[in-house]
Amino acid sequence: MSIKVNYNNMMQDILGEKGISYEQLTSLVPFAQDAHAKVESKRGQGMQGWMDSPYNQDDVVARINQVAKKIQDSCENFVVLGIGGSALGPIAVFTALKHLYYNELPRSVRKGPRFYVIDNVDPERMNALFDIIDIENTVFNVITKSGATSETMSQYLIIMDMLTKKLGDKAKDRIIATTSETKGNLIKLANELQLETFYIPDGVGGRFSELCPVGLLPAAVIGIDIAELLRGAREMDEKCKVADIAHNPALAIALLQYISMKEGKNIGVMMPYADSLKYIADWYCQLWAESLGKEVDLDGNMVNVGQTPVKALGVTDQHSQVQLYNEGPFDKVITFLEVDNFRSECQIPHGCEAFPDVNFLCGHSLNELMTKELHATRYNLTQRGRANYTISMDVVNEYNIGALLYLMQLQTAYAGAMFNIDAYNQPGVEGGKNATYALFGRKGYEAKVEEMRNAKADLNKYIID
Ligand code: PA5
Repeated sequence: MSIKVNYNNMMQDILGEKGISYEQLTSLVPFAQDAHAKVESKRGQGMQGWMDSPYNQDDVVARINQVAKKIQDSCENFVVLGIGGSALGPIAVFTALKHLYYNELPRSVRKGPRFYVIDNVDPERMNALFDIIDIENTVFNVITKSGATSETMSQYLIIMDMLTKKLGDKAKDRIIATTSETKGNLIKLANELQLETFYIPDGVGGRFSELCPVGLLPAAVIGIDIAELLRGAREMDEKCKVADIAHNPALAIALLQYISMKEGKNIGVMMPYADSLKYIADWYCQLWAESLGKEVDLDGNMVNVGQTPVKALGVTDQHSQVQLYNEGPFDKVITFLEVDNFRSECQIPHGCEAFPDVNFLCGHSLNELMTKELHATRYNLTQRGRANYTISMDVVNEYNIGALLYLMQLQTAYAGAMFNIDAYNQPGVEGGKNATYALFGRKGYEAKVEEMRNAKADLNKYIID
């Protein structure tokens, strides 16, 4: 396993009084073991179906690869329509594993179709897409597990209408549905129209779904080796079967974050030092926020737990956020994502001898600069007592990305068990959804309309024109 977790800088040995003591950590070993046991006891059950994803998809992978090959041969653009867990994984994996200007490469180099993910309902974004793609030459992958998400279903209706006007009966050949096999509207439409369809297993929730057809189909279409992604996840899973924080990296970082949150570190910064990992931070922010931000625990007690995730990018955000991280409140844990070997090298040439303040860079490489800046920033933060740990990998490839995603899913599951909360629901999202339905006059939401009418939301008192 080439993923390593280094949490020296969380500990008192390095961080001084702001750190966690060895005694404190070891006193919580039984607690961590208990969380591990709780997660293991539900492996593959309920909403923990994602723990089976690395093992039970041979047939799915074969079919996905077959369909992906057909798409590669038959279209110029592949567009994912989805939101939240149905979009952030495909974006993260695409950015991690494909050329950083993939869409701009010539087709002969790219091999696969151009790739877009439309994860919002901003009309400007939607129409901008139609300015750059020929929809007749495009396959759209509509991804929604519930088949009820207003944003995704609106996009579907727009695309289906446009395609039908252009292609008539053949419109259905340009749409692939990824959804629940048993629930929701999309599966009904897909069956009626005989769309090519992939199923999201019942026990796999949106933010835990990148390693099922939600993420695997888009990845395969752009030429990513999805069997390798799953192999990485599988090996991480095997490694984490032990209930021992000295050998299970997901359990260790879940416990460290749990202790930190209990001590008031309510902000978790995810800071990759690689552009390729930039959107892994976005994906992780959803996973961490939506899973752990909960009002009540499993026994019904009001707990209002969670840690606000923040995404930052090294080195770019050294010039925006790091001032705060060094000198602001001691309320953060910073997770660095480090890559030992970049997939390409860029030398900084000589030729500036007259300017020593610039010349010191000459003869080095951007690779060195990136790495040294990470080391320097981490050193400085640590010297100032700022809690941080590092997840590193030797290189960004399919195997390591599969392992990393799975590590983070497990960390989240263990942390959920430690807080005794349901990490798989999102009741806080429902309120906004219901209010939207009411605003649209959807049948069944009359009471909500009434409630909103009586609320003080339209107060005119504190408005500046
Ligand atoms: O993690 C989750 O469950 C959510 O973020 C969902 O992925 C998101 O709301 C989209 O849901 P659906 O796939 O049902 O359209």
